[in-house]
Amino acid sequence: MLSLIVAMDENNLIGNNNCMPWDIPEDLNLFKEITSNSIVIMGRKTFQSIGRPLPNRINFVLTKDKNFFHKDIQIFNCPDNALKKALSLQKITNKKIFIIGGKTIYEYFLPLINEFHFSYIKGKFFGDTFFPEINTSNFYIANTREFKDFIYIHYIKNTCNF
Ligand SMILES: NC(=O)c1ccc[n+]([C@@H]2O[C@H](COP(=O)([O-])OP(=O)(O)OC[C@H]3O[C@@H](n4cnc5c(N)ncnc54)[C@H](OP(=O)(O)O)[C@@H]3O)[C@@H](O)[C@H]2O)c1
Repeated sequence: MLSLIVAMDENNLIGNNNCMPWDIPEDLNLFKEITSNSIVIMGRKTFQSIGRPLPNRINFVLTKDKNFFHKDIQIFNCPDNALKKALSLQKITNKKIFIIGGKTIYEYFLPLINEFHFSYIKGKFFGDTFFPEINTSNFYIANTREFKDFIYIHYIKNTCNF
């Protein structure tokens, strides 16, 4: 089971100059609530934009740089190896696995995702990094929550095809 979590605006914008284009603490709190105690997989740029390992989560970071090092994260040079390791840890710990971005990492794992956690930020912001268009017709809506600045929708992949 592989989950993806992302916040995007009405144009699918997710980032600007390696930062979030908005400052919405309620969305950060929701991200924390959903991903706590899980395994999170991210790209090196997202890791550097967060600036530290996410607490209470096992942090996997993807980079092609063989010299990249941080003592509190697990570093992978290949997404398939990161996924294999995460799945084997999941078997032992029952932790969820979240793909948390950025764009290149979302794109790589999209075909494998069973569950989306989308925060649809209200409005159109300025930025340079976008979430790809996706087809959710094979997913059902398990939950929605409306917040002041965004709408959260939880999609789960249908397991039966009639
Ligand atoms: N709105 C949201 O929910 C959200 C969530 C996350 C991120 N973001 C935003 O997204 C933006 C960053 O996205 P991004 O696409 O530019 O960067 P990214 O996906 O975070 O990181 C890209 C880096 O990951 C590594 N990488 C990518 N593919 C790899 C592969 N096949 N094997 C090994 N390493 C690989 C490379 O690191 P090296 O260059 O070190 O080799 C690459 O430069 C930022 O603006 C951030 O704020 C938004």
